[in-house]
Amino acid sequence: MPEHIDLSPNPKSHIKTLSRIGYNLDSAISDIIDNSVTAESKNIFVEMDVVDQKAALVIKDDGYGMDEDTLINSMRIGCKDPSDIRGEFDLGRFGSGMKMASFSQARKLTVISKIENFNIQSATWDLDLVERENAWTLIKHTEQETKGLCSKFNIEFGESGTAVIWENISKYNGYPIAELQAILGQDLVSLKSYVRLHFHKFMEGKRAINFYFNFQKLDHFDPFLRNRNGYQEGPSQKFRVKKGGSIELRVHILPHESKLTKVDLDNLGGTDQITANQGLYVYRANRLIISGGWFGLTRLSQLGKLARVEVNVPTSLDEEWSTDVKKSSLEIPHKVKVKLKQLIREPIKRSQKTYRYRGRLEEANAFWKVNENEREKSISYEISKDKTLLKKLIVTLDKDKVYDLIGYLTHLSVEIPIHHIYEKMSSEPNKINQNDISYDDLLKGFKELWNK
Ligand SMILES: Nc1ncnc2c1ncn2[C@@H]1O[C@H](COP(=O)(O)OP(=O)(O)OP(=O)(O)O)[C@@H](O)[C@H]1O
Ligand SMILES: [Mg+2]
Repeated sequence: MPEHIDLSPNPKSHIKTLSRIGYNLDSAISDIIDNSVTAESKNIFVEMDVVDQKAALVIKDDGYGMDEDTLINSMRIGCKDPSDIRGEFDLGRFGSGMKMASFSQARKLTVISKIENFNIQSATWDLDLVERENAWTLIKHTEQETKGLCSKFNIEFGESGTAVIWENISKYNGYPIAELQAILGQDLVSLKSYVRLHFHKFMEGKRAINFYFNFQKLDHFDPFLRNRNGYQEGPSQKFRVKKGGSIELRVHILPHESKLTKVDLDNLGGTDQITANQGLYVYRANRLIISGGWFGLTRLSQLGKLARVEVNVPTSLDEEWSTDVKKSSLEIPHKVKVKLKQLIREPIKRSQKTYRYRGRLEEANAFWKVNENEREKSISYEISKDKTLLKKLIVTLDKDKVYDLIGYLTHLSVEIPIHHIYEKMSSEPNKINQNDISYDDLLKGFKELWNK
């Protein structure tokens, strides 16, 4: 008989591995928010602040909460079997997210929870204690201690709810208070834009959940800009992948940049980011997981940049899509890739059309001509020869002067500061104002030249 030896991981070193599985602040907080969404919360409050001179983060919801047994069991890493069949709207899978996400950022995780008609319960993982004792020792708080925690972090529950508290957050340790406040402020901005995008589907519609960040209500951000002028809806497709699971694909074409407001353009991250973020938007049970990129289906292109394809995947297909505990990446199964490849031809063509159409519009400008060479795949801008004023001028000149003028106009076309304009248009689109050019100033300058 072979010998069976118990080689359970050493808690002290295991915890160090577990806390480095690749979450960042945004994806970690989102994993906690997933739980609040699953718990049918109507309001979710995220607060990042300095408490007793140290950074602390509280994520509180008014969902169905946990009783004492559920709370204690939920504190265990791997408290549920990933193969369990879960409800359609349950965003959980591994029974580990809350712990792993928290340990990636904080050395102290406290969960306080309440269900209807019962007392508030709370428990804490303190990794300093785990390391000191080299044992998975959970702290279960008394009623009095729980009350103390609630007043320290300003937590009040209605009928039911849960609060997750992070303390001893590694990235914020060692800063003076003023600097810490500033860093927290910056992180809050980035976190808000992550959440309003990744949870936007939960913030819309009749059963919308209210999200508050440091007491400010967050608006959703739809990456397809569906209700804006110039938005085009493309084809959609739904197909079953296996028993009980179907995938939905929807094509969206964003409005051209010239039709966007500054706020929308900023939300999209500016012109550069619109190009970088074209591609697939994959939602797992309505929560955005992947935001952009074509995953080898096609190349990122300047002309296809307005195309975005929404892919809706149910959690029942987690295995096929290789969902991991962080839920920040997925693998697209081969069969789905084949379907997507057929489907995206259309949006890319449409996005190209939107651009080509703009190209023709610019050709209509009486002073400039846009040459689009389809075969060479190149575009050039040159001064138009058809301008009546130019014709009038040319007939008054002798042959040599006409050659000089043509030479000058050719140079003017070739030397158009295209890179400078491109860069300014992307970073400060509203700054360029050609109306600032004054005829009188130019005339004055030319007269001076003449006099010399
Ligand atoms: N805000 C909450 N409200 C109610 N129950 C919660 C809340 N947060 C966590 N729980 C309970 O704790 C359990 C463990 O959460 P955890 O995030 O660790 O795992 P999970 O959500 O089941 O799966 P995953 O690892 O995929 O996130 C949940 O399954 C749920 O029962
Ligand atoms: Mg979870």
